[in-house]
Amino acid sequence: MKISVIGLGYLGAVHAVCMAELGHDVVGIDVDTERIAKLERGEAPFFEPDFPEKLSAALERGTLRFSADLSDVRECDVHFVCVGTPQGSDGSADLGALHAVREGLQKVLADSTREKVLVVGKSTVPVGTARGLSEAFAELPNIELAWNPEFLREGYAVKDTLGPDRLVYGVHEDQQFSIAHLDAVYAPILEAGTPRLVYGYESAELVKVSANAFLATKISFVNAVAEMCEATGADVVEVAEAIGLDERIGRRFLKAGIGFGGGCLPKDVRAFIASAEEHGVGDSFEFLRNVDRINQKRRARPVQLALEHFGGNLAGVPITVLGAAFKPYSDDVRDSPAIDIALSLARHGADVRITDPQALDVVRGRYEELTLVDDLEEAMSGARLLILATEWQIYRDLDPERVAELVAERVVIDGRGVFDLARWRKAGFEIMALGRGD
Ligand code: UGA
Repeated sequence: MKISVIGLGYLGAVHAVCMAELGHDVVGIDVDTERIAKLERGEAPFFEPDFPEKLSAALERGTLRFSADLSDVRECDVHFVCVGTPQGSDGSADLGALHAVREGLQKVLADSTREKVLVVGKSTVPVGTARGLSEAFAELPNIELAWNPEFLREGYAVKDTLGPDRLVYGVHEDQQFSIAHLDAVYAPILEAGTPRLVYGYESAELVKVSANAFLATKISFVNAVAEMCEATGADVVEVAEAIGLDERIGRRFLKAGIGFGGGCLPKDVRAFIASAEEHGVGDSFEFLRNVDRINQKRRARPVQLALEHFGGNLAGVPITVLGAAFKPYSDDVRDSPAIDIALSLARHGADVRITDPQALDVVRGRYEELTLVDDLEEAMSGARLLILATEWQIYRDLDPERVAELVAERVVIDGRGVFDLARWRKAGFEIMALGRGD
């Protein structure tokens, strides 16, 4: 099939490459000409396992091309809209880019060579958006709209796109055209046995925002339990392990620590609150405000512990933050708890060094108050406090005996609950682990 992918951010770039991998002829569109040039050269605009290889392979096969000109989508049968829906000033989702694409597509597709085309929304949007867009598209009888939310995780984006837990189609009342086209697009994935769920627009939109809000709630729940653990001497790793063995609860997304960040969960929680209010059910989503509040509170905790440890004065104290990305296997620093913590320590006068195996290039030049150090041992040398903020494997694998030789003071805050406390203590470290009792 001939497919266009409009908006080549994280979601769109991965989707375009994966659609080419499935055997389609794909054109990726973005207004950012620098990004287009980069992708054309086969360079990944972000760190994502498997992405560069699949991008190069598709370019070599000649089944993937990029353009900044929306009129290049005219010959396509299916158009995936993957533009960002960032947080607006009131917390709600900003749909400006989505509407700009809708207007552009209406112009371009008015004289499409295809008798009928399918436009598929993939962006995360408040419920009601698809119906509104579909009504606008109704001016042109040759356009049908479907909503097909994406559930990929950064770091596993290619794997999640090609092997999702489920495919959700949100379709208009007259569904056959949308279903047939989406089935053809995803044929190899469906043949592998992936469940396919066909709903109306509203359910499909709500699946996406509810899933992210639920994941965020799970994390904030366990982080609230972590606070209780700190107050009582219990260990949140143990509590999470035991409750997670109840299959109804499940073990995943119960890792306590400095909380969730990234370009999705924080903004999606806020957008869901705004959307619920708009629909008159805000009351029932009050708890999501606490999900957000607890999350912010956990970012403040390492700073609070540092202040307590150094008698309320961090001026000139050399502190090393291990990790800058919002999670491992990603170079994304959007709403990263690690960066927030580092900046907060710097505001308290600490001499903050930050290291990360992937994300330093992304932050270079952005924060004067932070010293970026590529080499891990150099970053830790002379530190009076280490804070583990992103649980990259290289930090999990640290040998406390070796670290002890590098640092000026043996003090560690484990913000991700991954260090073997006994081992670090044996090497002479005072270790403060969030939610792990004393
Ligand atoms: C999230 C969802 O997991 C995806 O399903 C969704 O498609 C995506 O948002 C999106 O809407 O595009 P992502 O932002 O890539 O994916 O990252 P997650 O793996 O969900 O992690 C989010 C944050 O939660 C990270 O900062 C991570 O460190 C934190 N986290 C995760 C915890 O603090 N504890 C956990 O147990 C799990």
